Amino acid sequence: MSSRYEEVYQRSLQDPEGFWAEAAEDVRWDKRWDTVLDRSNPPFYRWFVGGELNTCFNAVDRHVEEGRGGQLALVYDSPVTDTVRRYDFRELQEQVARFAGVLKNLGVGKGDRVIIYMPMIPEAVIAMLGCTRIGAVHSVVFGGFAPHELATRIDDARPKAIVSASCGIEVTRVIEYKPLLDEAIRQAKHKPEACVIVQRPQRPCELTPGRDTEWGEAMAASTPQPCVPVAATDPCYILYTSGTTGQPKGVVRDTGGHVVALKWSMRNHYGVEPGEVFWAASDIGWVVGHSYIVYAPLFHGCTTILFEGKPVGTPDAGVFWRVIQDHGVAALFTAPTAFRAIKRDDPDGKLVGRYDLSRFRTLFLAGERSDTDTVKWAERVLQKPVLDHYWQTETGWPIIGNCVGLGQLPVKYGSPTKAVPGYDVRVVNDQNEEAARGEIGAINIRLPLPPGCLPTLWNADDRFVAAYLEEYPGYYKTADAGYMDEDGYLYVMARTDDIINVAGHRLSTGAMEEVLSQHPDVAECAVVGVHDDLKGQIPVGFIVLKAGVNRPEDEIIAEVVQMVREQIGAVASFRVATVVERLPKTRSGKILRGTISKIADGESYREPATIDDPAILGEIEEALKRLGYARESA
Ligand code: COA
Ligand code: AMP
Repeated sequence: MSSRYEEVYQRSLQDPEGFWAEAAEDVRWDKRWDTVLDRSNPPFYRWFVGGELNTCFNAVDRHVEEGRGGQLALVYDSPVTDTVRRYDFRELQEQVARFAGVLKNLGVGKGDRVIIYMPMIPEAVIAMLGCTRIGAVHSVVFGGFAPHELATRIDDARPKAIVSASCGIEVTRVIEYKPLLDEAIRQAKHKPEACVIVQRPQRPCELTPGRDTEWGEAMAASTPQPCVPVAATDPCYILYTSGTTGQPKGVVRDTGGHVVALKWSMRNHYGVEPGEVFWAASDIGWVVGHSYIVYAPLFHGCTTILFEGKPVGTPDAGVFWRVIQDHGVAALFTAPTAFRAIKRDDPDGKLVGRYDLSRFRTLFLAGERSDTDTVKWAERVLQKPVLDHYWQTETGWPIIGNCVGLGQLPVKYGSPTKAVPGYDVRVVNDQNEEAARGEIGAINIRLPLPPGCLPTLWNADDRFVAAYLEEYPGYYKTADAGYMDEDGYLYVMARTDDIINVAGHRLSTGAMEEVLSQHPDVAECAVVGVHDDLKGQIPVGFIVLKAGVNRPEDEIIAEVVQMVREQIGAVASFRVATVVERLPKTRSGKILRGTISKIADGESYREPATIDDPAILGEIEEALKRLGYARESA
């Protein structure tokens, strides 16, 4: 089939208003918009101004109204608890309407924030949809984050209520959430009025009198609530993501643009039709979970899978194929790290042959660079297209991809393919001019961004402008570097800030440095991302001790490792650190983190002309070798 991509892409840039107004016809509105794109206050742009709609109605109720009530909406598959639970659209509607009543009983209304700190259980999805049903703004916090991170988000979002569970279940252990929640509320200045707690049989918890209500009791006492229309420009949710400091950025998602863009992406990017089964093997705490576990598949009338397990160890590297078979999955979206884990445990892909994958069509990978070895391995064992695509928390849906729904383009290994319709992606040099083809520069998107992308940061318009729009006037800065080839294929090479990507999880090395520097024996420190065969990158810490400290280094390292675990969370995978005499710096005192990473990864690097003492790079290389990291350096 020849691809319609070029024609559709050109149209999306030449006539964005016409293009997105047409896409918006596929969405159910309570009131149509007056203006498709309000350009009156640049660099702030707003989509579908004057329009009113409800997110939950578009995800759930419309499908019941349109005859899909008996179709499966949500399938919870949990190998860690040996449970499969199925909800059709009608049942999901009942549960969500009831939970909206719970929120109402707690005094939560339109515009109020609700934090959701939960494992991968259906109640988490019901809570998210329950919020949007009454126009409340949810902020889901990933369960792997420690109390301090949760407290930071509580203070920024100032939620009226928090929804949580007694525990989460990892492969080898049960994690009690309640003590983490209590500690976070203790640390936060803002105190939520109420918490709703799901008691899981694996580890129930004691409720805090006067503050906590048990989920089942709250549901029994509630009256189901209808969907409340909100303005298209009202916030639907806030999702915090790592910034360059310990203070995470609250990415705001608006309502109208979000529904329009996500619904459009299902058919056109992912090539999936209503009624089919879509599975994003991620976590609801990340943007992939928001967009492609919860919202997009439901907007599109698909069945979505909520998987509480890991690619390996629950029970084995065949679990993805088992889930695809059992639920008839048409498209799977996950991070390359999951496939590296499967490949490591089942290098010949023998387990694939045990399952019926006849309904499975396409594998999508995103979240980090897809290495060619892993892509080719997946193609070989699955015999299906394996498509890399690239996007960010901020955009909420793909920026660069291979739009199978428009006709697949040829795959070039190492590239997520071309800009997705709606995104005018340019590679730009330091002079804010477009770089030549093949030349590395900043990957930027010309303003205005398409619908669905962040309109601003929560309560921080100035930070939004400073972080994304100031450096390259006229553009949104992705903070990734890369190049475009002669055919318009983009290659994403590296972040230009201190964000690293650990097992598809976005983390800030700056935030880890803030933790390390709190240790009483640490004079200064640097955390850099180094290549890891499984997780893509892992953080490695370099610590300079204060003069006169003569405690055993191993003890100090164990303490800082524990501090990162306690303050950021196990998900940071911070396990490796070393003590060094000094850190390489420029003469102006800037630590050369990028150079350290390059030494670790064996990449060629230019000795910076401004370095204060070149001999120090040799010392760092020795330290990395002791840790088993420095490869052959150029
Ligand atoms: N709640 C509490 N703790 C969590 C957690 C959660 N929701 N998720 C992860 N953790 C903990 C893990 O238990 C682990 O703790 P440990 O250090 O005590 O073992 C730590 O955080 C690191 O977890 P993880 O990154 O999952 O590493 P792993 O070694 O357990 O598993 C993979 C490795 C590759 C199997 C795993 O990273 C994976 O499935 N990755 C897929 C990534 C993904 O879906 N990304 C989303 C973007 S699309
Ligand atoms: P997040 O906001 O957590 O989704 O992380 C977004 C970041 O992950 C991007 O800015 C990139 O650095 C990286 N990323 C996501 N997808 C890809 C991809 N397909 N190839 C390379 N890097 C990617």
